[in-house]
Amino acid sequence: MKFNIIKIPRLASTNSYMQEQIKKKALQEGDVVRALFQDKGKGQGGNNWESEYGKNLLFSMILEPKTIDASQQFILTQLVSLALLEEIKEFLVSFNIDVKIKWPNDIYVDNKKIAGMLFQNSIKGNKIDYSIVGIGVNINQLKFLSSAPNPISIIHFTKKLTDIDMFLNKLLSKIGKEYDKVTIHQNKELLKERYVNSLFRFNSWHNYSDSEGIFYGKIIDIDEYGRLIVLKNTGKQKVYMHKEIGFDFS
Ligand code: BTN
Repeated sequence: MKFNIIKIPRLASTNSYMQEQIKKKALQEGDVVRALFQDKGKGQGGNNWESEYGKNLLFSMILEPKTIDASQQFILTQLVSLALLEEIKEFLVSFNIDVKIKWPNDIYVDNKKIAGMLFQNSIKGNKIDYSIVGIGVNINQLKFLSSAPNPISIIHFTKKLTDIDMFLNKLLSKIGKEYDKVTIHQNKELLKERYVNSLFRFNSWHNYSDSEGIFYGKIIDIDEYGRLIVLKNTGKQKVYMHKEIGFDFS
């Protein structure tokens, strides 16, 4: 997979921009749109994504994974999360900290969020027609003003500026490799195993909340649709979709 980076200083949102351009048939697979600033950066669940001008990595890309069925779209989440995890780990390797994927697609350093993703998949029949993958990585921003509960940046650890273009190029190369592995070689089992083993709080007991209240539980797996499987201390297993389970940080 080859990527083509288009840099635009200021946009409402790279995801929204891509969506508009795709409708005009002005973009194709592998195109990447990077902005230095977003007026309406979109986070998950309708939240705003905060980023100071030029300080962080904000981009979206378009993938057209013809060999992935719509029911398997979580494969995209797994492969992009793993590539981003590896890239961030490379920058933080000397700091003796845990870098993990907080299910389904946040990257956490210890208990703090360093990166997030927003997938907008367009489905035709039982296939993914295209996917817009928006990624925000906190790199050189020291202070966050919004009410986002726990943001952190690479600079908090390295204490020096990171070259964002270099970060993006290396990240795209990792995403490309993961993408080819899955779409060409179809190695889906191994991908799932690597993803599950990289999950924040995997296989250890913590407090969570769901529609029944607060409980003590252990993340033990994901199912074929990417839903989270949690063992409750009552001995019962439950399967969660995104936003159906909350992680307790107190
Ligand atoms: C999240 O809430 O964790 C998802 C954050 C995704 C933010 C990125 S920044 C680049 C792209 N454009 C957007 O408007 N959102 C994504």
